[in-house]
Amino acid sequence: MIANSSWTWSTTSNAGASLEEAPNSFHSNQALCYISSMTYTPRVFNLPVLEGISEKQIKVHLALYEGYVKHVNLIMGMSQMYGKTDDEGGKYSLAEFRRRFGFEFDGMRMHEYYFEQFEGEKGGSPDSVLAKAAAEKYGSGEEFLAHVRQVAATRGIGWVVVYADPVGKTIHTVFVGDHEFGQLSGLPVLLALDLWEHAYMVDYVPADKKNYIDAFFANLNWSVVEKRFDEAMKISAA
Ligand SMILES: [Fe+2]
Repeated sequence: MIANSSWTWSTTSNAGASLEEAPNSFHSNQALCYISSMTYTPRVFNLPVLEGISEKQIKVHLALYEGYVKHVNLIMGMSQMYGKTDDEGGKYSLAEFRRRFGFEFDGMRMHEYYFEQFEGEKGGSPDSVLAKAAAEKYGSGEEFLAHVRQVAATRGIGWVVVYADPVGKTIHTVFVGDHEFGQLSGLPVLLALDLWEHAYMVDYVPADKKNYIDAFFANLNWSVVEKRFDEAMKISAA
């Protein structure tokens, strides 16, 4: 099962406390705008003590993750609120909310992939079917890992993401800028390595990013990655 924020769905006419703060000029549209609402709830991760990534670092990072969830909910609510306005300023605001949604949503979802990889027992290695796919693409499991590390050396903030491509029966490793630039459409995420400085700067200076990447792999539970790959391929075979 691919990691998802839990969410709730309601069909009430009240979209929640944040929308109670809407400008008065939009209140007359509530009956039209607040037809339904759903909100995401931050996931709770069962994380062990990690090697080379401190509890303080994880705490800071989880708080940032919760900020993405909060802002996804905020944008969804504000988009509903501004969606019915003819006001030029409101239309401009709506366009900006829409422009930012991918950043906030992918920020939320990518962190769920990230933290989930540390749950359970660390270790293992790309095995079985995933190892075969990695070897076909990169030559061997070792060369696959070397390639991931090479992509992780890309300058700038973002992620290394390894995807399954059920259509091509292969995997792809890409650098995703911010949280959303360069994502491969529709491909299931297998591995997500956060390369934003906030992911490691409690423990490492930027010049030591390599040490953070070492710690990431030392704590990675490969069975989570394997499971994602198996499910991606199972879905494609169905
Ligand atoms: Fe992050």
